[in-house]
Amino acid sequence: MAMPARPLLVLAALLLPALLLSAASAADSKNNPADQLVSLINSNRTASKASSLSDNQGLGCIALQYIKAYEGQCSDVRNKKPPETSFAEIFAPSCGVQVATLSKITGRLMGCQSKYPSPPEAFDILVNDAKDLQVLHSKNHTEIGAAVSGTDGGGPYFWCVLFSGGKPATSFKVDGEVPKTAMHPGCFSGNNDDCAGPTNGANVPISAGALRLVAAVLFSVACAFAM
Ligand SMILES: *[C@@H]1O[C@H](CO)[C@@H](O)[C@H](O)[C@H]1NC(C)=O
Ligand SMILES: *[C@@H]1O[C@H](CO)[C@@H](O)[C@H](O)[C@H]1NC(C)=O
Repeated sequence: MAMPARPLLVLAALLLPALLLSAASAADSKNNPADQLVSLINSNRTASKASSLSDNQGLGCIALQYIKAYEGQCSDVRNKKPPETSFAEIFAPSCGVQVATLSKITGRLMGCQSKYPSPPEAFDILVNDAKDLQVLHSKNHTEIGAAVSGTDGGGPYFWCVLFSGGKPATSFKVDGEVPKTAMHPGCFSGNNDDCAGPTNGANVPISAGALRLVAAVLFSVACAFAM
């Protein structure tokens, strides 16, 4: 039996704005706290006549795995480091980074606190003495990767910045795409990705994408009623 024309029209009116709206918001990718920290670091470096560093997504993803190695233990940040072998054995494979392209880490800045610090606040936490400032401004770095993550869907919140002296085009090369499991929870720099913040993907029952679709459908229902 053929559908009457009017319900079809209403259905089209419902779906079209929903599709348009969700496509439009999916294209927006400027919202990533790890990328924001990298720009703060680069503007501070260039203001001090140091070079701007290349934002490497492989290194950014490794910075996020580096955070995970602390297993939420904030107090370990000051005096413990994951073993050097973790880079080749755990971090690179988790990120899809080719082990042969791992390059020398020339510095790191790491911070943690119970309340979430925004990127400018994180900058102040990460750079708070002369030694940190030396790491920030070192001429040995050519590239950078930054990450932020909460723990189990809440605090404590960790920030990690790794610097390397590798060649940006050929170091920390990702095979294909960074695996989804390496992205959650948290955000890392260099992948041009929208990121929902430090608890991104952790214990969140409805994904941001689903929320966007729900919002778009509600919006289009409103449009249909307005017709
Ligand atoms: C760079 O950061 C350091 C450490 O926080 C600060 O003392 C300095 O004023 C900053 N430089 C600029 C140009 O913002
Ligand atoms: C830069 O690298 C050299 C050689 O490895 C090292 O001696 C120096 O301390 C490094 N500088 C900084 C600021 O880390």
